[in-house]
Amino acid sequence: MCGIVGYIGDEQAAPILLDGLSKLEYRGYDSAGLAVYDGEKIEIEKMPGRLRGLIDITHDGEKMPGTVGIGHTRWATHGDPTVENAHPQYNKDKTIAVVHNGIIENFQKIREFLEEKGYQFRSETDTECIAHLLDYYYEGDPLEAIVKTMYRLEGSYALCILFAKHPDQVFAVRKDSPMVIGRGKEGEGNFVASDVPAILKYTRQVYYIDNEEIAVLSRDSIQFFNLDMEPIQKELHTIDWDMNAAEKGGYEFFMMKEISEQPKVIRRTIEPHIKDNEVVFDELKMTDEELAKLERIHIAACGSAYHVGMIAKYVIEGMARVPVEVDLASEFRYRNPIYSENEIVLLISQSGETADTLAALKQAKEHGILTVAVVNAVGSSMTREADRTIYTVAGPEISVATTKAYSAQLVIMYLLAMKLARVKGTISTKEYLGYQHDLLQLPQQAEMVLNNQTRIQKFANRYIAAKDVFFIGRGIDYAIAVEGALKLKEISYIHAEAYAAGELKHGTISLIEKGTLVNAVVTQEDLYEKTISNIVEVRSRGAFVMAITNADHADMENTADYVIYIPKTNPYFTGSLAILPLQLFAYYVSAGKGFDVDHPRNLAKSVTVE
Ligand code: F6R
Repeated sequence: MCGIVGYIGDEQAAPILLDGLSKLEYRGYDSAGLAVYDGEKIEIEKMPGRLRGLIDITHDGEKMPGTVGIGHTRWATHGDPTVENAHPQYNKDKTIAVVHNGIIENFQKIREFLEEKGYQFRSETDTECIAHLLDYYYEGDPLEAIVKTMYRLEGSYALCILFAKHPDQVFAVRKDSPMVIGRGKEGEGNFVASDVPAILKYTRQVYYIDNEEIAVLSRDSIQFFNLDMEPIQKELHTIDWDMNAAEKGGYEFFMMKEISEQPKVIRRTIEPHIKDNEVVFDELKMTDEELAKLERIHIAACGSAYHVGMIAKYVIEGMARVPVEVDLASEFRYRNPIYSENEIVLLISQSGETADTLAALKQAKEHGILTVAVVNAVGSSMTREADRTIYTVAGPEISVATTKAYSAQLVIMYLLAMKLARVKGTISTKEYLGYQHDLLQLPQQAEMVLNNQTRIQKFANRYIAAKDVFFIGRGIDYAIAVEGALKLKEISYIHAEAYAAGELKHGTISLIEKGTLVNAVVTQEDLYEKTISNIVEVRSRGAFVMAITNADHADMENTADYVIYIPKTNPYFTGSLAILPLQLFAYYVSAGKGFDVDHPRNLAKSVTVE
């Protein structure tokens, strides 16, 4: 989604801003722009399309001299990706320039108010009203104008602002949209960014600016203020992860790199949670007695993270007999969920910034329910809002389609289920140790699946031109089918639908015709026979069936047209292996079609608007 970079120092700003924006490209955008103070006035360049265009017209930034500037990549919400709608937006005489992430919900009202005052709008964006509102309130003190503007804005925003009359300062504020402030080494200036990778090349020292706080950056100082314009103290954090982790490392696309990292990520996620043969979750800060009292878990998440929740329901209910309710976060917040004592709300998110999941979190907190965020991005909004945070340690995930973070989230769900089952006594010690053993085998088994990808690649090449693909499964296999279908549709633009295998004959089977591809996930031993009979049903209507299975079942070879085998593991954990061929299938179809696998159209890595 949109990206922000800001710089003030002694170096030329434009090349730094362009470099920072390039590190945010993976988040998805459709136009880009810069504003640089050139010593007399603010110069603005912006254009629709890829950042490359902006780099070219500014000659790598050389055509925009100046040591103070702000930059933006925009993912269109209000108005098409055009020059007028791209950021920075500015006031009538270009003395104030603003870049904005988020959505201003009351922008129509503000626009009408400003139009009545004689302001003329040139774009369709909600952001332009911020530039004019700052102009309206500006009477010599930028801080005061910003605070008055913030009082008028409803919605979410991270803003970075330049005032031509205060050329030795850059201003940054946020509400419900991420933003960090980077402190450069002495003499190396200071930075603003919507996401750490944009500035990691220049500094590892960051402040996390909180909601409704204002940062004022000069070349050699950073000050923070609250809405009452009182100075506040902020803690300086050191980023300890490595940018190399975010480089492609020889792979053509980040997605393949991230798929390949999954065995390592699974291992890394398990390790800190098993000590002396016991599953531990120190970050929950709950005693075993408190955990044993848990009566229900609500899970809210979006997209693939929601699919992790679907599997968590099977695993936690199955192992620990704790009821689990799983909701799409965008629905959860509006359905007025019923909470009781001894319940928790679990939010699952790679980015920790997804607007709907964040809103679900806040709503649960308002009801006094303990919130636990399972998050990958360190220091993200959810980690700061939630009562407890469990980190998945997948490392930075760059490809828009999630793979390794999904796998890490699954592992956290298994571990939670085991912990709850242990403290509630719903499984024997032998079973508990058996689960641990099987879990510890998963990285190696995942490696085996990934080392054996030629068959799936060949198969994907045959289906590059497919128009519709169906995915079927039962139980956990159904949840995997749903994730497999999402992977395929989002990066290959092929229509893909997942169905609970038993549900097909209630309508969808009418869509099957000669040659329709059906991918069947068949890993649950007690459901083999049932799913096999569903495979027979679709094949007899002309479908071509690829089965992903761990069954050494002669019936499987005789039933499906093409079989991909995965190793056997505990039925609760099979999702972690079955998803791998489906990720690879989607990847190879997309790459085979010549698509930009990491940047699917219309999608953003971190969805910070509702
Ligand atoms: C699909 C995908 C999305 C995300 C969803 C939630 O590959 O990546 O469906 O899973 O947008 O994002 P996070 O996990 O950041 O909350």
